[in-house]
Amino acid sequence: MAPDSLQKLSKPVFISSRVIHGFGRGSKKLGCPTANLEHEIVQNIDLESGIYYGFAQLIDPPPSSTKTMEKNIEDLSIHRPTTSPLNPIYPTVFSLGWNPHFNDVKQRTLEAHLLHSFDDDFYNSTIRVAICGYIRPERKFNSLDELIDTIKNDIRLTKIALEKPEQQWSSIINDSFFFVPLAENDDSTTKIKMKKMAIINLDNNNVHIQNSNNNNNN
Ligand SMILES: Cc1cc2nc3c(=O)[nH]c(=O)nc-3n(C[C@H](O)[C@H](O)[C@H](O)COP(=O)(O)O)c2cc1C
Repeated sequence: MAPDSLQKLSKPVFISSRVIHGFGRGSKKLGCPTANLEHEIVQNIDLESGIYYGFAQLIDPPPSSTKTMEKNIEDLSIHRPTTSPLNPIYPTVFSLGWNPHFNDVKQRTLEAHLLHSFDDDFYNSTIRVAICGYIRPERKFNSLDELIDTIKNDIRLTKIALEKPEQQWSSIINDSFFFVPLAENDDSTTKIKMKKMAIINLDNNNVHIQNSNNNNNN
C-alpha cells in the first residue's frame, strides 16, 4: 500500500547516481526538465512507484547553475556548512515508475525535477538524492495539459512539504551523505570561506562543522 499524500517516509531513501538521458520530453513537452537516474540503481529501490518529494545535490554542477539569482527567480537552494558552497542542496520532486501517460517506457525510471533554474543540462553529472515523502500515485491522464497541471501541483505540494528545511529537515540536509569536500581546483574565494570552517565533531553518521566566524570577529 502506498503511504498517504505528503506523508513522510519512515526512513528517507538516499541514492547516488550518474545522470543519464531519458526520452527528452521533460523540457520540450512538459516544461519540466528532469534528471534521470541510472536504471541498475533504480531497479534496487524498495519503494512503490509514485510521485515523491525530497532533496537533491549535484556534485559537478554546470557552471551556470548559480544564475538563478540574476534572473530574479525564487532561489530555494540550501547551503550547508557541511557541504562545499559549490554544491547546494535543492528541494526536488521525483517521479518513480513507468510513466503510464506514455506507452514507451520499458524500465522503471527515477526522474528528479530540481526546483531551481539551470541554463545547462547535467548529463553525466553525479546526483545525490534523498527521497523523503510521498505525494501521489503516477497516472495516465486525458490530455497532456492535465499531466502538466498535475505536475505544477506536485511542485506546489513539494514546496509546502519542504518548507523551513533548516527546522523540519535538518537531520537530512545535515546528513554526511551530502558532505562534499572542497575540490583542489575550486576558486580561491571558496577556499578562503572553507578555511574559516572547522570540524567540531565527527560521529558515525554526521559531520558537524561550525563556521569559526561564530567564535571570533575575524
Ligand atoms: C512531478 C512529476 C510528476 C509526474 N507524474 C507523472 C504521471 O502521473 N504520469 C506519467 O505518466 N508521468 C509522470 N511524470 C513523468 C513524466 O511523464 C516524465 O518526466 C516525462 O515524460 C519526461 O521523461 P523523459 O525524461 O524520459 O523525457 C511525472 C514527472 C514529474 C517530474
